[in-house]
Amino acid sequence: MSQSLEQKIDDQSAVIGIIGLGYVGLPLMSAFVKAGFKTIGFDVDQKKVDMLKAGQSYIKHIDAAKVSALIEEGQFDPTSDVSRMAEADCLLICVPTPLNDSRDPDLSYVEGTTEAIAKSLRPGQLVVLESTTYPTTTRDVMLPILNATGLKAGQDFYVAYSPEREDPGNPDFTADGIPKVVGGIDEQSGKLAEALYKQAIVKIVRVGSPEVAEACKILENTYRAVNIALVNELKVLFDRMGIDVWDVIDAAKTKPFGFQAFYPGPGLGGHCIPIDPFYLTWLARRYGLTTRFIELAGEVNSKMPEYVITQLMEFLNNQGKALRGSKICLLGMAYKKDVDDPRESPSFVLMEHLLGRGADLTYNDPHVPHLPKMRHHDLPEMSSQELTPRISRRTGLRAHRNGPFGVRLRFHREAFRDGIGHSQRHKRSSRRPRQDLQSLTFRCGKIEIFDQGRQNDCRPCFVGA
Ligand SMILES: NC(=O)c1ccc[n+]([C@@H]2O[C@H](COP(=O)([O-])OP(=O)(O)OC[C@H]3O[C@@H](n4cnc5c(N)ncnc54)[C@H](O)[C@@H]3O)[C@@H](O)[C@H]2O)c1
Repeated sequence: MSQSLEQKIDDQSAVIGIIGLGYVGLPLMSAFVKAGFKTIGFDVDQKKVDMLKAGQSYIKHIDAAKVSALIEEGQFDPTSDVSRMAEADCLLICVPTPLNDSRDPDLSYVEGTTEAIAKSLRPGQLVVLESTTYPTTTRDVMLPILNATGLKAGQDFYVAYSPEREDPGNPDFTADGIPKVVGGIDEQSGKLAEALYKQAIVKIVRVGSPEVAEACKILENTYRAVNIALVNELKVLFDRMGIDVWDVIDAAKTKPFGFQAFYPGPGLGGHCIPIDPFYLTWLARRYGLTTRFIELAGEVNSKMPEYVITQLMEFLNNQGKALRGSKICLLGMAYKKDVDDPRESPSFVLMEHLLGRGADLTYNDPHVPHLPKMRHHDLPEMSSQELTPRISRRTGLRAHRNGPFGVRLRFHREAFRDGIGHSQRHKRSSRRPRQDLQSLTFRCGKIEIFDQGRQNDCRPCFVGA
């Protein structure tokens, strides 16, 4: 049985079913098509399926022309008909793994998908979970559902876990160029999954079990959440001491070993870092343990929007202004640069704080033309406002790639380092960044630039005219 699947993988005649055509599923599909495989894409959202069929893309950084070409060539077949799952030899699951209202893991998408697979499971299929989750999900949640079909795992069908490491919007690392960790529930499953991914991905790291692969992904994300919290805490302290945290990090990262730079920001965003570590926290509780680092990191990171608001109020106060009635433009609604993904973005929290305090609020984000409805935020309907040429020129803000995030930073750094836009008196001074920023503000006339966020995840800042 496994031999014929191995053969199909080797000669690329295996049909790959990708379940969940979102930020992870679509690039993965593209990697397998590029490697010469025919793919069927499954999604419960009929609107998405219809758009894909029409050669359109609902994710900004995924090129519609490319989707259209793949469909025309017959290499990509999007559908919402889950009964067609039997047509696929390998099924790769990329569905959401959010937290529920009590911040516990919500595995309903994974369970629902596994049940749909079970309905048409046939001998010779390989099922791989890619969604981020806590260790033991593949074996303890998925496997019992599949085994209930009467088919035998490791003999009739094969199961593995391989975490997705997609970094949406990062052109340097596409899905096929990121090493992939793979762990099977048994030797044969691991071997087949390794053989499959080897066809499409630059490097495969085979580990001994799905649990190691699941824990590996959660370690990667927890590592980031904790380190971001550390620099966020240091930013608050160094601000008070008049030390520029960016200068400190720039200096520290010249150490050729033992240090990796993380940057402070106004909060965490996206589907991964604010969520995944809490999957582990929940699991630890079942083992009678606590994950104190994770919880402390969550506490520090979730206070950052409030810190930004306090700083903004202090800044306005120094100009003799109140936040109420001040014109504030929030720059950047997506959770990071070059993407249109607003999930968990702290910009929404900032918006709530600002509106609640009576600010006259607008926003600018060319990737988020209209404010989407968010489950946890009740905000008025708003649309992205064009920046005036004067503000664009002063801040260097345009679209994301060449725009707000990167260029704004350069603007700030130049302002600090080379005296552009502020008095010579402060040239090259990095001792008292807040004052420098304010003198920059005075020189720019009515432009008030607040946050210098360079966070690798989220970097909204403010311009008030
Ligand atoms: N977005 C990222 O940067 C990223 C990176 C690495 C890992 N991940 C992980 O990958 C997983 C997917 O994340 P995403 O960002 O692609 O989510 P997404 O919301 O963009 O896409 C998920 C898709 O699954 C579809 N779906 C939901 N239930 C389904 C079902 N039963 N059958 C078929 N389709 C179904 C949804 O309609 C949606 O289109 C999550 O576990 C996430 O943590 C995400």
